[in-house]
Amino acid sequence: MQHPLIIAPSVLAADWGRLHESIRDVQSAGADWLHLDVMDGHLVENISFGPAFCECVAKVATVPLDVHLMITRPDKYWARYAKLAANITIHVEADCDVAATLRDIRAAGCTAGISLKPGTPFSKLAPYLGDVDLVLVMTVEPGFGGQSFMHDMMPKVSAARDARTARGLGYRIEVDGGINATTGTTSIAAGADTLVAGTSVFGAKDMAVAIRALRA
Ligand code: DX5
Ligand code: ZN
Repeated sequence: MQHPLIIAPSVLAADWGRLHESIRDVQSAGADWLHLDVMDGHLVENISFGPAFCECVAKVATVPLDVHLMITRPDKYWARYAKLAANITIHVEADCDVAATLRDIRAAGCTAGISLKPGTPFSKLAPYLGDVDLVLVMTVEPGFGGQSFMHDMMPKVSAARDARTARGLGYRIEVDGGINATTGTTSIAAGADTLVAGTSVFGAKDMAVAIRALRA
Protein backbone atom coordinates (compact mmCIF):
# COMPACT_ATOMS: atom_id res chain seq x y z
CA MET A 1 0.00 0.00 0.00
CA GLN A 2 1.41 3.37 -1.02
CA HIS A 3 -0.26 5.25 1.86
CA PRO A 4 -1.03 4.26 5.48
CA LEU A 5 -4.61 3.00 5.86
CA ILE A 6 -7.18 5.68 6.71
CA ILE A 7 -10.62 4.90 8.16
CA ALA A 8 -13.10 7.70 7.42
CA PRO A 9 -16.53 7.12 9.01
CA SER A 10 -19.33 8.80 7.06
CA VAL A 11 -21.31 11.29 9.17
CA LEU A 12 -24.29 10.56 6.90
CA ALA A 13 -24.82 7.49 9.11
CA ALA A 14 -24.30 9.26 12.46
CA ASP A 15 -27.13 10.00 14.92
CA TRP A 16 -27.89 13.58 13.93
CA GLY A 17 -30.18 13.94 16.95
CA ARG A 18 -27.06 13.71 19.17
CA LEU A 19 -24.56 14.83 16.56
CA HIS A 20 -21.78 16.15 18.79
CA GLU A 21 -21.83 13.07 21.04
CA SER A 22 -21.87 10.83 17.97
CA ILE A 23 -18.85 12.65 16.53
CA ARG A 24 -16.96 12.50 19.85
CA ASP A 25 -17.78 8.78 20.16
CA VAL A 26 -16.51 7.90 16.68
CA GLN A 27 -13.32 9.94 17.20
CA SER A 28 -12.65 8.14 20.49
CA ALA A 29 -13.38 4.88 18.66
CA GLY A 30 -10.41 5.54 16.37
CA ALA A 31 -11.65 7.40 13.28
CA ASP A 32 -8.75 8.89 11.30
CA TRP A 33 -10.93 11.28 9.26
CA LEU A 34 -14.61 12.19 9.21
CA HIS A 35 -16.30 11.86 5.80
CA LEU A 36 -19.02 14.42 5.01
CA ASP A 37 -21.43 13.44 2.22
CA VAL A 38 -22.87 16.65 0.75
CA MET A 39 -25.72 15.93 -1.70
CA ASP A 40 -27.74 18.40 -3.81
CA GLY A 41 -30.61 16.20 -5.04
CA HIS A 42 -29.36 16.83 -8.60
CA LEU A 43 -26.08 15.02 -9.15
CA VAL A 44 -27.49 12.31 -6.86
CA GLU A 45 -31.10 11.44 -6.02
CA ASN A 46 -30.95 12.67 -2.43
CA ILE A 47 -30.37 15.81 -0.40
CA SER A 48 -28.28 15.43 2.78
CA PHE A 49 -26.73 18.57 4.30
CA GLY A 50 -24.70 21.66 3.43
CA PRO A 51 -22.10 24.11 4.81
CA ALA A 52 -23.94 24.98 8.06
CA PHE A 53 -24.20 21.32 9.08
CA CYS A 54 -20.51 20.76 8.24
CA GLU A 55 -19.55 23.81 10.33
CA CYS A 56 -21.47 22.25 13.22
CA VAL A 57 -19.46 19.05 12.82
CA ALA A 58 -16.23 21.06 12.57
CA LYS A 59 -16.93 22.58 16.01
CA VAL A 60 -16.24 19.23 17.71
CA ALA A 61 -14.03 17.57 15.10
CA THR A 62 -10.51 16.74 16.23
CA VAL A 63 -9.64 14.79 13.04
CA PRO A 64 -9.40 16.02 9.41
CA LEU A 65 -12.70 16.50 7.55
CA ASP A 66 -13.04 14.77 4.18
CA VAL A 67 -15.80 16.60 2.27
CA HIS A 68 -17.41 14.62 -0.58
CA LEU A 69 -19.35 17.04 -2.81
CA MET A 70 -21.98 15.00 -4.64
CA ILE A 71 -23.25 18.17 -6.30
CA THR A 72 -23.60 19.37 -9.90
CA ARG A 73 -21.92 22.74 -9.32
CA PRO A 74 -18.91 22.24 -7.03
CA ASP A 75 -17.31 25.28 -8.73
CA LYS A 76 -19.96 27.44 -7.05
CA TYR A 77 -19.87 25.85 -3.59
CA TRP A 78 -16.45 24.30 -2.84
CA ALA A 79 -15.24 27.55 -1.18
CA ARG A 80 -17.98 27.28 1.47
CA TYR A 81 -16.12 24.22 2.80
CA ALA A 82 -12.52 25.39 2.32
CA LYS A 83 -12.00 26.63 5.88
CA LEU A 84 -13.29 23.47 7.59
CA ALA A 85 -12.15 20.78 5.13
CA ALA A 86 -8.77 19.07 4.92
CA ASN A 87 -9.85 17.40 1.65
CA ILE A 88 -12.56 18.34 -0.85
CA THR A 89 -13.64 15.76 -3.42
CA ILE A 90 -15.72 16.68 -6.48
CA HIS A 91 -17.37 14.43 -9.09
CA VAL A 92 -16.08 14.09 -12.64
CA GLU A 93 -19.78 14.07 -13.69
CA ALA A 94 -20.18 17.66 -12.35
CA ASP A 95 -21.40 20.35 -14.73
CA CYS A 96 -18.39 22.68 -14.47
CA ASP A 97 -14.74 23.10 -15.38
CA VAL A 98 -13.48 20.18 -13.26
CA ALA A 99 -9.77 20.91 -13.81
CA ALA A 100 -10.15 24.56 -12.82
CA THR A 101 -12.16 23.66 -9.71
CA LEU A 102 -9.55 21.12 -8.63
CA ARG A 103 -6.84 23.76 -9.07
CA ASP A 104 -8.85 26.30 -7.06
CA ILE A 105 -9.37 23.81 -4.20
CA ARG A 106 -5.64 23.14 -3.99
CA ALA A 107 -4.79 26.85 -4.22
CA ALA A 108 -7.00 27.39 -1.15
CA GLY A 109 -4.83 24.94 0.82
CA CYS A 110 -7.10 21.89 0.79
CA THR A 111 -6.19 18.62 -0.88
CA ALA A 112 -8.34 17.88 -3.94
CA GLY A 113 -10.13 14.62 -4.76
CA ILE A 114 -12.00 13.39 -7.80
CA SER A 115 -14.79 10.82 -7.67
CA LEU A 116 -16.80 8.83 -10.19
CA LYS A 117 -20.15 7.05 -10.05
CA PRO A 118 -20.34 3.31 -10.73
CA GLY A 119 -21.57 3.92 -14.29
CA THR A 120 -18.67 6.21 -15.20
CA PRO A 121 -15.63 4.52 -16.79
CA PHE A 122 -12.26 5.07 -15.11
CA SER A 123 -10.91 6.49 -18.38
CA LYS A 124 -12.96 9.67 -17.70
CA LEU A 125 -10.53 10.51 -14.87
CA ALA A 126 -7.43 10.38 -17.08
CA PRO A 127 -7.20 14.18 -17.69
CA TYR A 128 -7.33 14.91 -13.94
CA LEU A 129 -5.14 12.26 -12.28
CA GLY A 130 -2.08 14.51 -12.35
CA ASP A 131 -3.95 17.24 -10.49
CA VAL A 132 -5.49 15.35 -7.56
CA ASP A 133 -4.40 14.10 -4.15
CA LEU A 134 -7.18 11.51 -3.91
CA VAL A 135 -9.32 9.33 -6.21
CA LEU A 136 -12.66 8.21 -4.73
CA VAL A 137 -14.19 5.13 -6.37
CA MET A 138 -17.90 4.87 -5.46
CA THR A 139 -18.74 1.28 -4.56
CA VAL A 140 -22.47 2.04 -4.46
CA GLU A 141 -24.70 4.32 -6.54
CA PRO A 142 -24.17 7.55 -4.55
CA GLY A 143 -27.09 9.01 -2.63
CA PHE A 144 -27.84 6.70 0.23
CA GLY A 145 -25.99 4.87 3.01
CA GLY A 146 -26.65 1.24 3.83
CA GLN A 147 -26.48 -0.11 0.26
CA SER A 148 -24.69 -3.29 -0.83
CA PHE A 149 -21.07 -3.15 -1.96
CA MET A 150 -20.55 -3.39 -5.73
CA HIS A 151 -17.75 -5.95 -6.25
CA ASP A 152 -17.59 -5.06 -9.94
CA MET A 153 -16.03 -1.74 -8.97
CA MET A 154 -12.78 -3.47 -7.93
CA PRO A 155 -11.22 -3.35 -11.43
CA LYS A 156 -11.69 0.43 -11.25
CA VAL A 157 -9.79 0.53 -7.94
CA SER A 158 -6.97 -1.49 -9.51
CA ALA A 159 -6.99 0.75 -12.58
CA ALA A 160 -6.48 3.73 -10.27
CA ARG A 161 -3.55 1.95 -8.61
CA ASP A 162 -2.00 0.95 -11.94
CA ALA A 163 -2.39 4.45 -13.42
CA ARG A 164 -0.74 5.92 -10.31
CA THR A 165 2.23 3.59 -10.70
CA ALA A 166 2.47 4.02 -14.47
CA ARG A 167 2.41 7.83 -14.21
CA GLY A 168 4.51 8.10 -11.05
CA LEU A 169 1.70 9.84 -9.16
CA GLY A 170 0.93 9.81 -5.44
CA TYR A 171 -2.83 10.15 -4.89
CA ARG A 172 -4.75 8.21 -2.23
CA ILE A 173 -7.35 5.70 -3.39
CA GLU A 174 -10.60 5.89 -1.41
CA VAL A 175 -13.70 3.66 -1.60
CA ASP A 176 -17.16 4.66 -0.37
CA GLY A 177 -20.31 2.61 0.01
CA GLY A 178 -21.06 -0.74 1.64
CA ILE A 179 -17.63 -0.89 3.27
CA ASN A 180 -17.27 -3.29 6.20
CA ALA A 181 -14.46 -5.57 7.41
CA THR A 182 -14.98 -8.00 4.52
CA THR A 183 -15.51 -5.54 1.66
CA GLY A 184 -12.80 -3.30 3.11
CA THR A 185 -10.31 -6.16 2.85
CA THR A 186 -11.43 -6.78 -0.75
CA SER A 187 -10.96 -3.07 -1.56
CA ILE A 188 -7.49 -2.93 0.01
CA ALA A 189 -6.45 -6.00 -1.99
CA ALA A 190 -7.55 -4.16 -5.15
CA GLY A 191 -5.50 -1.08 -4.21
CA ALA A 192 -7.57 1.09 -1.86
CA ASP A 193 -5.89 2.77 1.14
CA THR A 194 -8.75 4.96 2.42
CA LEU A 195 -12.05 3.43 3.55
CA VAL A 196 -15.30 5.38 4.00
CA ALA A 197 -17.68 3.50 6.26
CA GLY A 198 -21.06 4.75 7.40
CA THR A 199 -23.48 2.04 8.46
CA SER A 200 -20.82 -0.51 9.43
CA VAL A 201 -19.33 1.93 11.97
CA PHE A 202 -22.17 4.14 13.21
CA GLY A 203 -24.56 1.16 13.14
CA ALA A 204 -22.19 -1.00 15.19
CA LYS A 205 -22.82 -1.93 18.83
CA ASP A 206 -19.19 -1.02 19.52
CA MET A 207 -17.68 1.49 17.08
CA ALA A 208 -14.12 0.84 18.27
CA VAL A 209 -14.53 -2.87 17.49
CA ALA A 210 -15.95 -1.99 14.07
CA ILE A 211 -13.06 0.36 13.26
CA ARG A 212 -10.48 -2.17 14.48
CA ALA A 213 -12.11 -4.80 12.26
CA LEU A 214 -11.75 -2.46 9.25
CA ARG A 215 -8.09 -1.97 10.12
CA ALA A 216 -7.32 -5.63 10.62
C1 DX5 B 1 -23.34 7.35 -0.75
C2 DX5 B 1 -22.65 7.78 0.51
C3 DX5 B 1 -22.52 6.54 1.36
C4 DX5 B 1 -21.94 6.78 2.71
C5 DX5 B 1 -21.48 5.47 3.33
O1 DX5 B 1 -23.79 8.46 -1.41
O2 DX5 B 1 -21.38 8.31 0.21
O3 DX5 B 1 -21.72 5.63 0.65
O4 DX5 B 1 -20.81 7.56 2.60
O5 DX5 B 1 -22.55 4.66 3.37
P1 DX5 B 1 -22.49 3.16 3.92
O6 DX5 B 1 -21.12 2.94 4.52
O7 DX5 B 1 -23.58 3.11 4.94
O8 DX5 B 1 -22.72 2.33 2.71
ZN1 ZN C 1 -19.12 9.81 0.36
